[in-house]
Amino acid sequence: MTTTLAPDRLEELTALDGPVSAVQAVVHRLPTGRVKDALHGLWLGHPLHPVLAEGAMGAWISASILDLTGGEDASARRLIVAGMVASAPAALAGAVDWADQGPEQMRVGIVHAAVNTLALGLYGASLVARARGHRLKGRALGLAGLTVVGVGGYLGGHMAYRQGAGANHAEDVKNLVKPGWHALGPWSEVPDGKPVRRMVDDVPVFVYRTGQETRVLADKCSHLSGPLSEGTVEDGCVTCPWHGSVFRLTDGAPVHGPATAPMPVFETRVQAGVLEASLRPAD
Ligand code: FES
Repeated sequence: MTTTLAPDRLEELTALDGPVSAVQAVVHRLPTGRVKDALHGLWLGHPLHPVLAEGAMGAWISASILDLTGGEDASARRLIVAGMVASAPAALAGAVDWADQGPEQMRVGIVHAAVNTLALGLYGASLVARARGHRLKGRALGLAGLTVVGVGGYLGGHMAYRQGAGANHAEDVKNLVKPGWHALGPWSEVPDGKPVRRMVDDVPVFVYRTGQETRVLADKCSHLSGPLSEGTVEDGCVTCPWHGSVFRLTDGAPVHGPATAPMPVFETRVQAGVLEASLRPAD
């Protein structure tokens, strides 16, 4: 017997699509470029959002430990404020990642954001209560905030580990492709200047030829498995047709997000008129 968890049901809740579209439109209006790439975590090699969220969670957990063990109220207040401050960039980084997900992930994601906003409100109320001298009420509100943010974390975990949001969708290529050279078909049938899809074992690969030079990458984008062979090639890079991630053809490195992980790259050669490819070991 399988159990349907609440987040599974949220994935299918189409009533959330209206708010999702409205918030997504706002997030998509943010300027693209280095700041957005930095928020995605391009410089880090994986999403930045969970790293920043850890900072907020750590501060809030510490505040509750102080509250539960008779620690100083002033210290607990400082930690609550620190968590609130850290949550701002975490929310921004999460929002730019979220806006380039699939419908199911975005439905869970908008509830994740709403729950965390509620937690923020509880922490704000906790600070107000403490400032007015209602220390017990302030502690209770702080614990309520921690409980609610725990629910938010649970939903975030569902997105990351169950729905693959933020995961590297090209990671399995190295396990699926056998070592050695693989035939990709007659060299003469590879068009010049137009990306095509070929297969290595059961793994689709992107093939792009210009004159005598051929570049081969795994075809399923590391962001969410979009087909790079249906993308556009310009200035030595391919742009994924789904959310616009840009990868360098020479080494598969992501140049623009939302993808943060590189694409697996293949060495190529032509033997007896047949194009062959061999997976290049990761650096
Ligand atoms: S699948 Fe999202 S950018 Fe490629």
